[in-house]
Amino acid sequence: MANTAELTVDGKSYSFPTLEGTEHEKAFDISNLRDQTGYVTLDRGYKNTGATKSAITFLDGELGILQYRGYSIEDLAAKASFLEVAYLLIYGELPTKEEFNTFETAIRRHTLVNEDMRKIFDGFPVNAHPMGVLSSLVSAMSAFYPDLQGGSDEDKTDLHIIRLLAKIPTIATWSYKRSLGHPMNYPKNQLDYIPNFLNMMFSLPVEDYKVDPVVAEALNVLLILHADHEQNCSTSTVRLVGSSQANIYSSISAGISALWGPLHGGANQEVIEMLEDIKADGGDVSKYVEMAKNAKTTGFRLFGFGHRVYKNFDPRAKIIKKAADDVLSKLGVNDPVLEIAKGLEEAALHDDYFVSRKLYPNVDFYSGIIYRALGIPTNMFTVLFAIGRLPGWIAQWKEMREQKEPIGRPRQIYTGATLREFKPLDQR
Ligand code: ACO
Repeated sequence: MANTAELTVDGKSYSFPTLEGTEHEKAFDISNLRDQTGYVTLDRGYKNTGATKSAITFLDGELGILQYRGYSIEDLAAKASFLEVAYLLIYGELPTKEEFNTFETAIRRHTLVNEDMRKIFDGFPVNAHPMGVLSSLVSAMSAFYPDLQGGSDEDKTDLHIIRLLAKIPTIATWSYKRSLGHPMNYPKNQLDYIPNFLNMMFSLPVEDYKVDPVVAEALNVLLILHADHEQNCSTSTVRLVGSSQANIYSSISAGISALWGPLHGGANQEVIEMLEDIKADGGDVSKYVEMAKNAKTTGFRLFGFGHRVYKNFDPRAKIIKKAADDVLSKLGVNDPVLEIAKGLEEAALHDDYFVSRKLYPNVDFYSGIIYRALGIPTNMFTVLFAIGRLPGWIAQWKEMREQKEPIGRPRQIYTGATLREFKPLDQR
């Protein structure tokens, strides 16, 4: 017999069904809780709330497991291309050769961005943060495809998915080029996805840029590691916005905004800036560990440490730490900040404050060091995260629509004033 959860409240007993996922995580189904009992649940930050059933990504925070559609992150990072992983996340299976060719060719053919979008760029200040520009421009894309209105045009979803995957790298590099005052590059469709992105980032009309395969491979691994992470803050944002039937561009734009925050994807920029500060301050990591331990008074957190779900280690951080060593040695880069990062990790992992709170390096701790070695400027780090996370957001948006999920609308416990009488202005 299936398990049930018994709840006694106000002297009455209620019974709720339980359910179990394919990887054995268990849940109480409280969909009818308020109807039956008059109560709602309170769960700030949704620490215990499963907002949906999803078949895309599985993670076990205690064991440090991450799988996309049943494939381990370690296997995918070592053996797959980013576009194969994108296909896997979005369509549920690894593509056959033929499916992959069709998918990749479609993406190549949609890399051009409407010329009118360039005029929008002109309205941004040159020092605008590229994440602000990216989120605005992705939102603006919806205005270029008016057939989207009302979000009911599901048969065109595949085309919009291709457009997003194809054009976001182009838009991202334009925001960077503009901040430098350099001409914006057009895509070159003879290049593969990642080399095309690198070429748009780094080539100049005055000299050729040759894509270094070490750089392209490192970026491939980083994008795969960031490609999905189940119901995190930005993904939940994408699903919530999409649940109102908002179109896919608006939903992804909202996800980009959520990702920008320093407690989420924006941490990768904060980490490098923190490591630079430590270096400039003489490299004494213990001083910063002490400051973080007094976070409540200093307001200082160790960026790149701690995770809502991983309470043992972040499997992505493990892969990235090793990749940082490999990439820096292959490229012959000696970055003193890598040593500071390792020292900081070592000091924190032996400190009871971090051990007792299960705070470990997360995906953002070492990624910035690799981005920097690849020549990517600090304010583009979170944009790279967004390019990586794009297939995950798309897959989650698509699943939410296909499951015909109801509009997302949490409840609250109201704590404000109770009904009072209005006094006109001259009597207050
Ligand atoms: N440095 C110092 N103390 C920390 C840190 C940190 N990086 N992270 C958490 N703590 C402490 C908190 O002060 C709290 O201590 P307390 O129990 O004495 O009050 C305890 O650890 C639990 O922290 P919460 O903030 O309650 O944990 P939560 O799960 O809500 O937050 C988060 C997770 C936001 C990632 C947090 O660890 C953090 O702010 N880390 C730094 C930012 C960061 O690296 N974000 C990237 C996350 S990965 C990603 O989004 C891609």
